[in-house]
Formats: sequence, structure tokens, C-alpha cells
Amino acid sequence: MKSKLEICEVGPRDGLQSAAQILSVAERVTFVSGLVACGLTKVEVGSLVNPKLVPTMAGSDEVFAALIERHPEHRDGFSLLVPNEKGLMRAIEIGCSSVAFFTATSETFNKKNINRSVAESLAELNPLIAQAHEQRMRTRLYISTVFDCAYEGTKHPEKDLQQFLPLFDRVDEISLGDTTGKATTMQVAALVEHGILQPWREKIWWHFHDTYRLAAANVRYAIGQGFTCFDASAGGIGGCPFSPGAKGNIATEKVIEIAEELGLAHGVQLPLALPYTP
Ligand code: HMG
Ligand code: MG
Repeated sequence: MKSKLEICEVGPRDGLQSAAQILSVAERVTFVSGLVACGLTKVEVGSLVNPKLVPTMAGSDEVFAALIERHPEHRDGFSLLVPNEKGLMRAIEIGCSSVAFFTATSETFNKKNINRSVAESLAELNPLIAQAHEQRMRTRLYISTVFDCAYEGTKHPEKDLQQFLPLFDRVDEISLGDTTGKATTMQVAALVEHGILQPWREKIWWHFHDTYRLAAANVRYAIGQGFTCFDASAGGIGGCPFSPGAKGNIATEKVIEIAEELGLAHGVQLPLALPYTP
């Protein structure tokens, strides 16, 4: 078991993607540089998606390029969210070595988010993961709506996740998304106790949104069960434009506070500078 907290700082992607204001490339680079200076060196710096649908993320390739020039030693820590082959090709072109693919257990959310059914998305992910591996990229797979969906309500992760298991061996990280922030600790515990995640424990990242202030209890529970990897966003900024009502991720500062309470080392220096007042 790992003894150090690991944070994937998703503020520059999940945090900014649905922000009311569109930050310039320079502002986003400054935001990430500030996070790096505080010791957050694993950062999702943007997404290579359709800029007409998510204008806040336009220019993420430029953000990435500027960051690797400024912080070459952290290149492998800077990742980009990639929805399809077009996104992956761009990631390869700009020298990105760490990509995050995404899908969901909810048919409705997947259709709205990526214009794919779950089955279509699974079929598309297979060759994408293979291509990323050929390029020796680090791969992450996000699965959204694990516990709840804004359109379909309460989900059944123990059953819904079965179809994704063949991909679990093929990626380096699996991020389980509580997209709406409705997951209770009882639901998280039921999933953990079921045992379905057991073979991939070391690769599991928890991605709790904090819409209903349930995320901290879930992080505490997960740490108590020996999990040490969490997605979080500086200041708790964020949401998903395709999941109505979803608010930000659990704040990075909160995860650090919990880690300190529970005696887990983290190596992050607070305060974190935010690009705007949430
Ligand atoms: P599509 O319509 O099926 O794609 O969209 P298409 O191939 O038919 O292309 C349509 C247009 O999109 C074309 O442009 C393409 O060039 C463009 P047009 O001819 O109309 O000008 N396009 C792209 N442009 C830039 N980069 C690309 C790209 N691909 C196509 N990679 C697609 C499919 C997935 C692209 C689209 O639905 C999309 O971009 N969706 C955005 C999804 C998104 O960013 N969601 C938020 C992130 S997920 C999330 O927040 C959840 C998470 O945090 C975990 C959790 O909380 O649960 C990860
Ligand atoms: Mg999210």
C-alpha cells in the first residue's frame, strides 16, 4: 500500500471547463505554474475536445506547449483529456505523454457528453488505448456517472462497471467519477466491499464532485480503506457542462486537510493561487 497521498489536480481542466469566463492561454499557464510551484506536479492541464462545445478549453494544446517549455521536468505530469482519435493525434503531435480518455456508465450522459452510446464508446476506446500505448503514453480512463446520473438517477456501479473491466488492465489509471456529487459513503463502501475493484486497487483514483458536500466523507472513507489517489481541484472550482447542476470537484485544499488529519504525507504547500474568485 502507498503511504503518500497522490493528487491529480484537475482544476485547470474540470475546474475551468464550465467557468463563466474564458481564461486566456497565458492565464491558464500562470494558473498551472502556480500549482506546480506548490508541489502539485500531476496536473490535467486541459482538454482536446470540440472547442465549439467547450470554448473554455480551446487552446489547450497551446497551454500544454507553453507549460512543457516552462517546466520541462514535469512534462510527464501534465496530462490532457482526449475524447477521440482527433484529440489523440493532436496530443501526439504536441509531445504529450499522458492522456485521459473518458466514458460513462450512463447511456444518456454519454450521448450528451461525447455523442456516443456506452457500447460505441467502448468500441472506440479499444484502438485509442492501443495507439496511446504504441506511443508509450501514460493512460487514464475516466468513468463518469458511477454512482448517479443527472438524467438517469441512482446507478448500480457493481453491475454497470462489469463492461469496463476488460479495459482496466490496459490503462495505467482508472478514475471513478461521482459526476453529480450525490454519492454517499454508504454507496462508496458498497462498491469497495463488493470486491469488483480489488484487482485494480492500486490504479483507482476517486473523482468526487462536491455538489452536496458529501465528498470529504467519501475521501475520508477511501483513505481509511487504504486508497491514496484522488482527483481534486484547487479551490473546489468546476463542474461538467453536460451534467446539469454538477458543481466543482472536492477542493485540493480539503483533500490535503484530510490527509493531514489522517497522517498521510502529501508534499503540497498551501495556499494555492486561483485564477478567479469562485
Ligand atoms: P462528434 O460530434 O461526435 O464529433 O463529437 P465529430 O467527429 O462528428 O465532429 C464534429 C465536430 O467536432 C467537427 O468540427 C470536428 O472537427 C470537431 P466541425 O466540422 O463541426 O467544425 N471535433 C473536434 N475538435 C477538436 N478536438 C477534437 C474533436 N473531435 C471532433 N478532439 C466529441 C464528439 C467527443 C468530440 C464532442 O462531443 C465533444 O467534444 N464533447 C465534449 C465533451 C467534454 O469535454 N465534456 C466535459 C469533460 S468530461 C467530464 O467533465 C467528466 C469528468 O470530469 C469525470 C466526472 O466528473 O465524472 C472527466
Ligand atoms: Mg469531473
